[in-house]
Amino acid sequence: MKGYPQDRLHHAIKSIENVYYFDKSTRESHDRMMQEPLNTNDPEVFNIIQKEKRRQTYSLSLIASENFTSRAVSEVLSSCISNKFIQQSFRYSGDADSVDELEHLCQQRALKVYGLDPEKWGVNVRPYSGSFANFAVYTSVVEPDGRIMGTTSYSCNLDYSRLRNIADENGAYLLGDMAHISGLVAAGLVPSPFDYCDIVSTSTYKTLRGCRAGAIFYRKGVRSVDAKTGKETLYNLESLICEAVFPRLQGGRHNHSIAGLAVALKQAMTPEFKAYQVQMLANCRTLASSLIEKGYKIVTGGTDTHLFLLDLRPNGIDGVRAVKVLQDCAIGCNKSPCPGDSALHPFGLRLGTPALTSRGLVEEDFCQVAELLHRGIQLAVEIQMNMNPKSSFKEFKETLAQDKNYQNRVREIRDEVEAFAGKFPMPGMPEL
Ligand SMILES: Cc1ncc(COP(=O)(O)O)c(C=O)c1O
Repeated sequence: MKGYPQDRLHHAIKSIENVYYFDKSTRESHDRMMQEPLNTNDPEVFNIIQKEKRRQTYSLSLIASENFTSRAVSEVLSSCISNKFIQQSFRYSGDADSVDELEHLCQQRALKVYGLDPEKWGVNVRPYSGSFANFAVYTSVVEPDGRIMGTTSYSCNLDYSRLRNIADENGAYLLGDMAHISGLVAAGLVPSPFDYCDIVSTSTYKTLRGCRAGAIFYRKGVRSVDAKTGKETLYNLESLICEAVFPRLQGGRHNHSIAGLAVALKQAMTPEFKAYQVQMLANCRTLASSLIEKGYKIVTGGTDTHLFLLDLRPNGIDGVRAVKVLQDCAIGCNKSPCPGDSALHPFGLRLGTPALTSRGLVEEDFCQVAELLHRGIQLAVEIQMNMNPKSSFKEFKETLAQDKNYQNRVREIRDEVEAFAGKFPMPGMPEL
């Protein structure tokens, strides 16, 4: 080491060797550490995951972007496939046959699930997540001063042909981010963005029920034909998008995520998956209509999809306070702005049915879910009404935590939620 006295360096290495010498007993205990199961190897992490498993089992997740992966997907995630490091395109390592085979299988399945002709569409299954997928698209096709106009997680079906016309009038690409509805599109239950878009991105763990990853589909071949000259303009999205994913944004491939996505895509081609998606929609309509019957307002009046937004403005409570009380009652949902709201003070509650449908809940169960939700929201409204209207969220939380009556009411609802939720099996690995 330049500039460092050699004798001191030698001394430092020697003293480290004395402490960390890889002798027989250290080697044996190292080997035991490598083979030991998580519960004894790292009880702290094990206990946190067990606590989370218990929470998931005994609570009601109405978070629209959550779902439960299947056991097969979970197994893949902790498999040896994640040990393999492979740069995304450049070949620094030659022993990558199985991960290449896996990626190819995943791509084939992705095109098949959405009925896409491999001559006209390609897919990159490497994005680490939906946000990386979108960022790769922006990096590849948005020029300086270019604009991204968008909508996301909407409870009505989108009119893609209208969006296509607007894009054409402006010489723009049409990107469909189908993260929320990718399972519904796979099942053919909502209009497909593939009919009109140039690029379709998605995260893969929501209604598609894969693991945390992303994918980008892009068109290939002829983009347009000049009406006068007959000259064809070709798409050049493939290289732009694939190079944006690697080397610009990402490093080594997440083989375990690609494997998890491949397994989820296989499941997505089954009649069982389609039946699940049909049930998820029926459950969502039931939840929406039960809440409308109880006097609630839904921003879009109803729902075509797996989610909707409850407008709590007429109830005099904001989404932040409602989410807090519901969370204490073991009911999970998101706050979200209603049209006209400030994102900093949202009055909406976004509710979705993918996760609970995976656990086997059907319409009549969702009537009960609506009742439990209603009781939680009513409690939040009552607390707010008994407070100064200008009181802060911090004061709201303190009142909720300190008032014995409110705490008893929360416990009563939570006990019922836990007893109800606990009746439904939780997919995934048995222990973790
Ligand atoms: C429509 C949409 N696109 C992309 C994302 C980001 O996906 P990820 O969480 O995989 O980064 C989300 C996240 O919830 C989303 O709702």
